[in-house]
Amino acid sequence: MYGMVNQALEAMIKETAGPEAWARITAQAGVDEPAFVAMKQYPDSVTYALAGAAAEELGMPLPKALHAFGVYWVSYADRGPWGKLMHASGRNTYELLAALDEMHARIALSFPELRPPSFGVERVQDGVLVEYRSDRPGLAPFVVGLIEGLGRLYRERVEVRQVDSRDAGAPHDRFHVRAFPMEAEA
Ligand code: HEM
Repeated sequence: MYGMVNQALEAMIKETAGPEAWARITAQAGVDEPAFVAMKQYPDSVTYALAGAAAEELGMPLPKALHAFGVYWVSYADRGPWGKLMHASGRNTYELLAALDEMHARIALSFPELRPPSFGVERVQDGVLVEYRSDRPGLAPFVVGLIEGLGRLYRERVEVRQVDSRDAGAPHDRFHVRAFPMEAEA
């Protein structure tokens, strides 16, 4: 994956656990990179090794670490050069979910080797059903975190429930998502 993903993981760990923790993680993962380059492609194995070592360092199961990284990613992207694109792509969680493929396609104009996931979004009575398609394994908890991160971005209370799992033999992971504006609850 592009270096910006590894950079985000590095930023999250340094913010929450400090630079020494990140040094231990890169050593544990066998990654000898003084600094990731955002626009350079790294093997997926580097990102997976870093995520695994980060989970170990934080003393949590990998799915929990991936979830936390998903939540973090949205705030990280929001602060970065792509934040504007994210806001322009949707005014709330449902809109952005529906615009994700188009948004990644826009990003691919700058990152030509991007291998983005694909999301199918279907309106249902009480929310949306989101189908997540990727050839990369094990990232469903990351997606849940990302969607919850969107809720924070848009100040919505978001509930995400996985209804189909590739790990359990389904063709794709699917999530039932409900989003409620915070104001409406006051
Ligand atoms: C401005 C915001 C965003 C940027 C700049 C961005 C960019 C990227 C980049 C560079 C990758 C790595 C892919 C590769 O290198 O081949 C990626 C992967 C991914 N993105 Fe985004 N993304 C953004 C927002 C989102 C959001 C909001 C979601 C979901 C709600 C999302 C879902 C994913 C997932 C699940 C992957 C993992 C790859 C996979 O599943 O195969 N992204 N994105």
